[in-house]
Amino acid sequence: MKINRNYLNLTENYLFSTVAAKTRTFQAEHPDKTLIKLSIGDVSRPLPAVVVQAMKRACKEMGQTKTFRGYGPELGYPWLRNAIVDFYHTQMQVELETDEIVVSDGAKSDLSNLLDIFDPTANVVMCDPVYPVYWDTNLMLGRTPQLLPATAENNFLPMPDTSIVADIIYLCNPANPTGVCYDRAQLKRWVDFAREHQAVILYDAAYTCFINDPDLPRSIYEIDGARECAIEICSFSKMAGFTGVRCGYTVVPKALKTMDGVSLNQLWRRRQTTKFNGVSYIVQRGAEAVFTPAGRQAVKQNIDYYRRNVRLICQTLERLQWPYVGGMHSPYVWVRCPAEYDAWQFFDKLLVQAGIVCTPGVGFGSAGKNYIRLTGFNSYTNTRRACRRLLDLSKDKI
Ligand code: MLT
Repeated sequence: MKINRNYLNLTENYLFSTVAAKTRTFQAEHPDKTLIKLSIGDVSRPLPAVVVQAMKRACKEMGQTKTFRGYGPELGYPWLRNAIVDFYHTQMQVELETDEIVVSDGAKSDLSNLLDIFDPTANVVMCDPVYPVYWDTNLMLGRTPQLLPATAENNFLPMPDTSIVADIIYLCNPANPTGVCYDRAQLKRWVDFAREHQAVILYDAAYTCFINDPDLPRSIYEIDGARECAIEICSFSKMAGFTGVRCGYTVVPKALKTMDGVSLNQLWRRRQTTKFNGVSYIVQRGAEAVFTPAGRQAVKQNIDYYRRNVRLICQTLERLQWPYVGGMHSPYVWVRCPAEYDAWQFFDKLLVQAGIVCTPGVGFGSAGKNYIRLTGFNSYTNTRRACRRLLDLSKDKI
Protein backbone atom coordinates (compact mmCIF):
# COMPACT_ATOMS: atom_id res chain seq x y z
CA MET A 1 0.00 0.00 0.00
CA LYS A 2 1.31 3.41 -0.91
CA ILE A 3 -0.08 5.84 1.63
CA ASN A 4 0.65 9.54 1.96
CA ARG A 5 3.52 9.16 4.42
CA ASN A 6 3.43 12.87 5.18
CA TYR A 7 0.58 12.01 7.54
CA LEU A 8 3.12 10.22 9.71
CA ASN A 9 4.72 13.58 10.43
CA LEU A 10 1.54 14.82 12.14
CA THR A 11 0.88 14.53 15.84
CA GLU A 12 -1.29 11.47 16.44
CA ASN A 13 -4.48 13.50 16.97
CA TYR A 14 -5.78 16.92 16.04
CA LEU A 15 -5.32 19.36 18.95
CA PHE A 16 -8.98 19.72 19.86
CA SER A 17 -9.52 15.95 19.65
CA THR A 18 -6.72 15.44 22.17
CA VAL A 19 -8.19 18.05 24.52
CA ALA A 20 -11.65 16.47 24.15
CA ALA A 21 -10.29 12.96 24.81
CA LYS A 22 -8.39 14.10 27.93
CA THR A 23 -11.52 15.86 29.16
CA ARG A 24 -13.69 12.76 28.58
CA THR A 25 -11.23 10.55 30.43
CA PHE A 26 -11.07 12.92 33.38
CA GLN A 27 -14.85 13.27 33.47
CA ALA A 28 -15.30 9.47 33.39
CA GLU A 29 -12.93 9.14 36.33
CA HIS A 30 -14.60 12.02 38.23
CA PRO A 31 -18.30 11.83 37.38
CA ASP A 32 -19.16 14.11 40.33
CA LYS A 33 -17.13 17.06 38.97
CA THR A 34 -18.80 19.70 36.84
CA LEU A 35 -16.35 20.75 34.19
CA ILE A 36 -16.49 24.16 32.52
CA LYS A 37 -15.15 24.31 28.99
CA LEU A 38 -13.24 27.41 28.01
CA SER A 39 -11.36 25.45 25.37
CA ILE A 40 -12.47 24.99 21.75
CA GLY A 41 -14.01 28.09 20.18
CA ASP A 42 -17.48 26.61 19.98
CA VAL A 43 -20.40 28.93 20.49
CA SER A 44 -23.09 28.44 23.15
CA ARG A 45 -25.75 30.93 22.03
CA PRO A 46 -28.50 29.41 19.88
CA LEU A 47 -29.09 30.38 16.27
CA PRO A 48 -30.89 33.71 15.83
CA ALA A 49 -34.67 33.23 15.51
CA VAL A 50 -34.67 34.87 12.08
CA VAL A 51 -32.15 32.27 10.86
CA VAL A 52 -34.23 29.40 12.23
CA GLN A 53 -37.37 30.80 10.56
CA ALA A 54 -35.58 31.12 7.24
CA MET A 55 -34.33 27.55 7.45
CA LYS A 56 -37.81 26.29 8.41
CA ARG A 57 -39.29 28.03 5.36
CA ALA A 58 -36.57 26.54 3.18
CA CYS A 59 -37.22 23.10 4.64
CA LYS A 60 -40.90 23.43 3.79
CA GLU A 61 -40.03 24.43 0.23
CA MET A 62 -37.84 21.34 -0.08
CA GLY A 63 -40.83 19.17 0.85
CA GLN A 64 -43.09 20.41 -1.95
CA THR A 65 -42.80 19.47 -5.60
CA LYS A 66 -43.22 23.02 -6.86
CA THR A 67 -40.52 24.54 -4.68
CA PHE A 68 -38.16 21.58 -4.26
CA ARG A 69 -34.55 22.17 -5.36
CA GLY A 70 -31.91 19.61 -6.23
CA TYR A 71 -28.28 20.53 -6.83
CA GLY A 72 -27.74 24.22 -6.31
CA PRO A 73 -25.07 26.35 -7.93
CA GLU A 74 -21.77 24.91 -6.62
CA LEU A 75 -20.41 28.34 -5.79
CA GLY A 76 -23.45 29.44 -3.83
CA TYR A 77 -26.89 30.89 -4.61
CA PRO A 78 -26.65 34.40 -6.09
CA TRP A 79 -28.95 35.88 -3.42
CA LEU A 80 -26.53 34.84 -0.65
CA ARG A 81 -23.47 35.98 -2.58
CA ASN A 82 -25.20 39.31 -3.28
CA ALA A 83 -26.07 39.69 0.41
CA ILE A 84 -22.36 39.23 1.21
CA VAL A 85 -21.40 41.83 -1.44
CA ASP A 86 -23.89 44.28 0.15
CA PHE A 87 -22.51 43.56 3.60
CA TYR A 88 -18.96 44.46 2.51
CA HIS A 89 -20.26 47.55 0.76
CA THR A 90 -22.36 48.91 3.62
CA GLN A 91 -20.22 47.84 6.57
CA MET A 92 -16.69 48.23 5.26
CA GLN A 93 -17.02 50.30 2.09
CA VAL A 94 -15.34 47.45 0.26
CA GLU A 95 -16.61 46.86 -3.27
CA LEU A 96 -16.73 43.21 -4.33
CA GLU A 97 -18.40 41.46 -7.23
CA THR A 98 -20.76 38.54 -6.81
CA ASP A 99 -18.51 36.15 -8.69
CA GLU A 100 -15.60 36.96 -6.38
CA ILE A 101 -17.48 35.24 -3.53
CA VAL A 102 -17.62 31.46 -3.19
CA VAL A 103 -19.89 30.00 -0.51
CA SER A 104 -18.57 26.96 1.38
CA ASP A 105 -19.21 24.75 4.37
CA GLY A 106 -16.86 26.78 6.54
CA ALA A 107 -13.50 28.46 6.90
CA LYS A 108 -11.68 25.36 8.09
CA SER A 109 -12.41 23.45 4.87
CA ASP A 110 -11.57 26.39 2.62
CA LEU A 111 -8.33 27.14 4.43
CA SER A 112 -7.13 23.63 3.71
CA ASN A 113 -8.74 23.15 0.28
CA LEU A 114 -7.20 26.34 -1.05
CA LEU A 115 -3.83 24.61 -0.97
CA ASP A 116 -4.99 22.60 -4.01
CA ILE A 117 -4.53 25.60 -6.29
CA PHE A 118 -0.89 26.24 -5.31
CA ASP A 119 2.31 24.55 -6.40
CA PRO A 120 3.30 21.70 -4.05
CA THR A 121 6.74 23.29 -3.66
CA ALA A 122 5.36 26.69 -2.62
CA ASN A 123 7.08 28.28 0.37
CA VAL A 124 4.60 28.76 3.19
CA VAL A 125 4.87 31.18 6.08
CA MET A 126 2.70 31.39 9.19
CA CYS A 127 2.85 32.62 12.77
CA ASP A 128 3.72 30.44 15.75
CA PRO A 129 1.38 29.94 17.62
CA VAL A 130 -1.21 29.42 14.90
CA TYR A 131 -4.56 27.74 14.17
CA PRO A 132 -3.34 24.12 13.85
CA VAL A 133 -5.24 23.55 10.60
CA TYR A 134 -2.74 25.73 8.69
CA TRP A 135 0.25 23.77 9.94
CA ASP A 136 -1.27 20.28 9.74
CA THR A 137 -2.67 20.67 6.22
CA ASN A 138 0.70 21.80 4.90
CA LEU A 139 2.44 18.93 6.63
CA MET A 140 -0.04 16.58 4.94
CA LEU A 141 1.25 17.88 1.61
CA GLY A 142 4.88 17.42 2.59
CA ARG A 143 5.58 21.10 3.18
CA THR A 144 7.32 22.43 6.28
CA PRO A 145 6.18 26.04 6.72
CA GLN A 146 8.47 28.77 7.94
CA LEU A 147 7.28 29.89 11.36
CA LEU A 148 7.28 33.46 12.61
CA PRO A 149 7.31 33.46 16.41
CA ALA A 150 4.56 35.61 17.90
CA THR A 151 5.99 36.50 21.29
CA ALA A 152 5.77 39.19 23.94
CA GLU A 153 8.81 40.82 22.25
CA ASN A 154 6.85 41.60 19.06
CA ASN A 155 3.51 42.09 20.84
CA PHE A 156 2.48 38.72 19.37
CA LEU A 157 2.24 40.37 15.94
CA PRO A 158 5.10 39.22 13.68
CA MET A 159 5.91 41.61 10.84
CA PRO A 160 7.53 40.90 7.48
CA ASP A 161 11.31 40.95 7.33
CA THR A 162 14.15 39.93 5.04
CA SER A 163 14.37 36.39 6.50
CA ILE A 164 10.96 35.50 5.05
CA VAL A 165 10.77 33.43 1.89
CA ALA A 166 7.10 33.22 1.02
CA ASP A 167 4.74 32.20 -1.73
CA ILE A 168 1.82 31.74 0.68
CA ILE A 169 1.41 33.77 3.88
CA TYR A 170 -1.29 32.90 6.42
CA LEU A 171 -2.62 35.76 8.49
CA CYS A 172 -5.45 35.36 10.96
CA ASN A 173 -6.79 38.70 12.12
CA PRO A 174 -7.85 38.98 14.94
CA ALA A 175 -5.44 36.17 15.61
CA ASN A 176 -6.26 32.71 16.78
CA PRO A 177 -5.01 31.76 19.38
CA THR A 178 -3.48 34.97 20.79
CA GLY A 179 -6.52 37.20 20.30
CA VAL A 180 -4.36 40.16 19.18
CA CYS A 181 -5.11 42.25 16.13
CA TYR A 182 -3.07 43.92 13.38
CA ASP A 183 -3.92 47.54 12.67
CA ARG A 184 -4.15 49.13 9.23
CA ALA A 185 -0.50 50.20 9.03
CA GLN A 186 0.70 46.74 10.02
CA LEU A 187 -1.56 45.01 7.52
CA LYS A 188 -0.40 47.44 4.85
CA ARG A 189 3.17 46.30 5.46
CA TRP A 190 2.08 42.68 4.92
CA VAL A 191 0.20 43.60 1.76
CA ASP A 192 3.19 45.53 0.39
CA PHE A 193 5.49 42.64 1.26
CA ALA A 194 3.23 40.10 -0.44
CA ARG A 195 2.99 42.20 -3.60
CA GLU A 196 6.72 42.81 -3.70
CA HIS A 197 7.42 39.07 -3.37
CA GLN A 198 4.56 37.81 -5.57
CA ALA A 199 3.11 36.00 -2.56
CA VAL A 200 -0.52 35.33 -1.71
CA ILE A 201 -1.97 36.16 1.70
CA LEU A 202 -4.56 33.68 2.96
CA TYR A 203 -6.42 36.01 5.28
CA ASP A 204 -8.51 34.21 7.87
CA ALA A 205 -11.23 36.66 8.93
CA ALA A 206 -13.27 34.22 11.03
CA TYR A 207 -13.08 36.49 14.11
CA THR A 208 -13.52 39.85 12.42
CA CYS A 209 -16.98 40.26 14.00
CA PHE A 210 -15.24 40.73 17.37
CA ILE A 211 -13.36 43.85 16.29
CA ASN A 212 -14.43 46.59 18.62
CA ASP A 213 -12.75 49.64 17.15
CA PRO A 214 -13.87 51.38 13.94
CA ASP A 215 -10.25 52.27 13.14
CA LEU A 216 -9.23 48.64 12.84
CA PRO A 217 -9.72 46.96 9.44
CA ARG A 218 -12.42 44.28 9.31
CA SER A 219 -11.47 43.07 5.86
CA ILE A 220 -8.06 42.94 4.26
CA TYR A 221 -9.62 44.62 1.24
CA GLU A 222 -9.78 47.81 3.27
CA ILE A 223 -6.04 47.93 2.63
CA ASP A 224 -4.80 49.34 -0.69
CA GLY A 225 -3.33 46.69 -2.93
CA ALA A 226 -4.90 43.73 -1.12
CA ARG A 227 -7.06 42.74 -4.08
CA GLU A 228 -3.90 41.93 -6.00
CA CYS A 229 -2.47 39.64 -3.31
CA ALA A 230 -5.06 38.39 -0.81
CA ILE A 231 -7.77 35.76 -0.47
CA GLU A 232 -10.16 36.37 2.44
CA ILE A 233 -11.75 33.41 4.20
CA CYS A 234 -14.74 33.99 6.44
CA SER A 235 -17.27 31.99 8.38
CA PHE A 236 -20.75 32.26 9.84
CA SER A 237 -19.66 30.07 12.78
CA LYS A 238 -18.61 32.60 15.36
CA MET A 239 -20.62 35.45 13.88
CA ALA A 240 -24.00 33.75 13.84
CA GLY A 241 -23.62 30.48 15.73
CA PHE A 242 -23.16 28.23 12.68
CA THR A 243 -20.52 25.90 14.16
CA GLY A 244 -22.98 23.02 13.93
CA VAL A 245 -24.75 24.25 10.79
CA ARG A 246 -21.64 24.83 8.63
CA CYS A 247 -21.43 27.76 6.26
CA GLY A 248 -18.69 30.17 5.25
CA TYR A 249 -17.38 31.95 2.21
CA THR A 250 -14.14 32.84 0.52
CA VAL A 251 -13.40 35.99 -1.47
CA VAL A 252 -11.01 35.54 -4.38
CA PRO A 253 -10.69 38.89 -6.17
CA LYS A 254 -10.53 38.82 -9.94
CA ALA A 255 -7.53 41.14 -9.76
CA LEU A 256 -5.53 38.36 -8.07
CA LYS A 257 -3.39 36.90 -10.86
CA THR A 258 -0.04 35.23 -11.33
CA MET A 259 2.73 37.09 -13.19
CA ASP A 260 1.72 35.32 -16.40
CA GLY A 261 -1.92 36.33 -15.96
CA VAL A 262 -3.55 33.19 -14.51
CA SER A 263 -6.61 34.12 -12.43
CA LEU A 264 -6.76 32.54 -8.96
CA ASN A 265 -10.49 33.22 -8.95
CA GLN A 266 -10.80 30.97 -12.01
CA LEU A 267 -8.65 28.23 -10.39
CA TRP A 268 -10.69 28.28 -7.19
CA ARG A 269 -13.98 28.14 -9.10
CA ARG A 270 -12.62 25.24 -11.12
CA ARG A 271 -11.54 23.45 -7.96
CA GLN A 272 -14.83 23.99 -6.14
CA THR A 273 -17.11 23.09 -9.05
CA THR A 274 -15.16 19.86 -9.49
CA LYS A 275 -14.75 18.75 -5.91
CA PHE A 276 -17.71 20.31 -4.11
CA ASN A 277 -21.46 20.28 -4.72
CA GLY A 278 -22.18 23.39 -2.73
CA VAL A 279 -23.82 24.13 0.60
CA SER A 280 -27.40 22.98 1.15
CA TYR A 281 -30.23 25.31 0.13
CA ILE A 282 -31.60 25.28 3.68
CA VAL A 283 -28.31 26.37 5.22
CA GLN A 284 -27.78 29.10 2.61
CA ARG A 285 -31.25 30.50 3.33
CA GLY A 286 -30.27 30.57 7.01
CA ALA A 287 -27.01 32.36 6.15
CA GLU A 288 -28.86 34.88 4.01
CA ALA A 289 -31.08 35.74 7.01
CA VAL A 290 -27.96 36.73 8.98
CA PHE A 291 -27.74 39.85 6.79
CA THR A 292 -31.32 41.00 7.37
CA PRO A 293 -31.84 43.80 9.94
CA ALA A 294 -33.14 41.25 12.47
CA GLY A 295 -30.20 38.94 11.72
CA ARG A 296 -27.67 41.73 12.14
CA GLN A 297 -29.28 42.76 15.42
CA ALA A 298 -29.15 39.19 16.73
CA VAL A 299 -25.51 38.83 15.71
CA LYS A 300 -24.67 42.01 17.57
CA GLN A 301 -26.43 40.72 20.70
CA ASN A 302 -24.55 37.43 20.53
CA ILE A 303 -21.18 39.07 20.04
CA ASP A 304 -21.89 41.51 22.89
CA TYR A 305 -22.79 38.53 25.07
CA TYR A 306 -19.45 36.81 24.37
CA ARG A 307 -17.60 40.09 24.80
CA ARG A 308 -19.03 40.41 28.30
CA ASN A 309 -17.67 36.94 29.07
CA VAL A 310 -14.25 37.83 27.75
CA ARG A 311 -14.19 41.06 29.77
CA LEU A 312 -14.95 39.07 32.90
CA ILE A 313 -12.12 36.64 32.13
CA CYS A 314 -9.70 39.53 31.56
CA GLN A 315 -10.77 41.26 34.80
CA THR A 316 -10.22 38.00 36.67
CA LEU A 317 -6.77 37.54 35.15
CA GLU A 318 -5.90 41.08 36.19
CA ARG A 319 -6.97 40.34 39.76
CA LEU A 320 -4.86 37.22 39.68
CA GLN A 321 -2.02 39.16 38.08
CA TRP A 322 -1.61 36.52 35.42
CA PRO A 323 -0.16 38.17 32.32
CA TYR A 324 -2.33 37.85 29.21
CA VAL A 325 -3.02 39.35 25.81
CA GLY A 326 -6.05 39.34 23.54
CA GLY A 327 -9.66 39.54 24.57
CA MET A 328 -10.14 43.09 23.36
CA HIS A 329 -11.10 42.33 19.76
CA SER A 330 -11.38 38.60 20.07
CA PRO A 331 -13.14 35.80 21.93
CA TYR A 332 -9.69 34.45 22.86
CA VAL A 333 -7.38 35.30 25.74
CA TRP A 334 -3.78 34.11 25.65
CA VAL A 335 -2.56 33.56 29.19
CA ARG A 336 1.01 33.12 30.38
CA CYS A 337 1.36 30.06 32.65
CA PRO A 338 2.94 30.59 36.07
CA ALA A 339 6.69 30.05 35.80
CA GLU A 340 6.82 26.52 37.13
CA TYR A 341 4.28 25.12 34.64
CA ASP A 342 4.39 24.36 30.98
CA ALA A 343 1.20 24.47 28.92
CA TRP A 344 0.09 20.86 29.43
CA GLN A 345 0.99 20.91 33.13
CA PHE A 346 -1.10 24.03 33.60
CA PHE A 347 -3.90 22.51 31.54
CA ASP A 348 -3.86 19.52 33.94
CA LYS A 349 -3.74 21.80 36.97
CA LEU A 350 -6.78 23.80 35.84
CA LEU A 351 -8.65 20.63 34.91
CA VAL A 352 -7.94 18.75 38.12
CA GLN A 353 -8.06 21.60 40.64
CA ALA A 354 -10.60 23.96 39.11
CA GLY A 355 -12.58 21.76 36.74
CA ILE A 356 -11.77 24.20 33.92
CA VAL A 357 -10.88 22.99 30.45
CA CYS A 358 -8.56 25.32 28.54
CA THR A 359 -6.47 24.79 25.42
CA PRO A 360 -2.75 24.28 26.02
CA GLY A 361 -0.82 26.87 24.02
CA VAL A 362 1.78 24.41 22.80
CA GLY A 363 -0.95 22.77 20.70
CA PHE A 364 -0.80 25.89 18.52
CA GLY A 365 2.98 25.74 18.13
CA SER A 366 6.13 25.62 20.21
CA ALA A 367 6.00 29.38 20.91
CA GLY A 368 2.88 28.56 22.95
CA LYS A 369 4.69 26.18 25.28
CA ASN A 370 4.21 28.45 28.27
CA TYR A 371 0.70 29.63 27.49
CA ILE A 372 -2.89 28.51 27.62
CA ARG A 373 -5.86 29.86 25.66
CA LEU A 374 -9.23 30.67 27.25
CA THR A 375 -12.39 31.54 25.34
CA GLY A 376 -15.43 33.65 26.08
CA PHE A 377 -17.78 31.35 24.17
CA ASN A 378 -19.35 29.56 27.13
CA SER A 379 -22.49 30.88 28.84
CA TYR A 380 -22.18 33.89 31.13
CA THR A 381 -23.15 31.78 34.15
CA ASN A 382 -20.46 29.23 33.42
CA THR A 383 -17.88 31.89 32.66
CA ARG A 384 -18.61 33.58 35.99
CA ARG A 385 -18.39 30.25 37.77
CA ALA A 386 -15.07 29.52 36.04
CA CYS A 387 -13.71 32.92 37.03
CA ARG A 388 -14.64 32.30 40.67
CA ARG A 389 -12.87 28.96 40.51
CA LEU A 390 -9.77 30.67 39.11
CA LEU A 391 -9.82 33.19 41.94
CA ASP A 392 -10.16 30.37 44.44
CA LEU A 393 -7.06 28.81 43.00
CA SER A 394 -5.12 31.63 44.56
CA LYS A 395 -1.67 32.43 43.32
CA ASP A 396 -0.16 30.85 46.44
CA LYS A 397 -1.88 27.55 45.82
CA ILE A 398 -0.52 27.61 42.29
C1 MLT B 1 -10.67 27.11 17.82
O1 MLT B 1 -11.03 26.80 18.95
O2 MLT B 1 -9.52 27.46 17.56
C2 MLT B 1 -11.68 27.05 16.73
O3 MLT B 1 -12.94 26.88 17.23
C3 MLT B 1 -11.45 25.95 15.87
C4 MLT B 1 -12.25 26.05 14.63
O4 MLT B 1 -12.92 27.05 14.38
O5 MLT B 1 -12.18 25.10 13.86
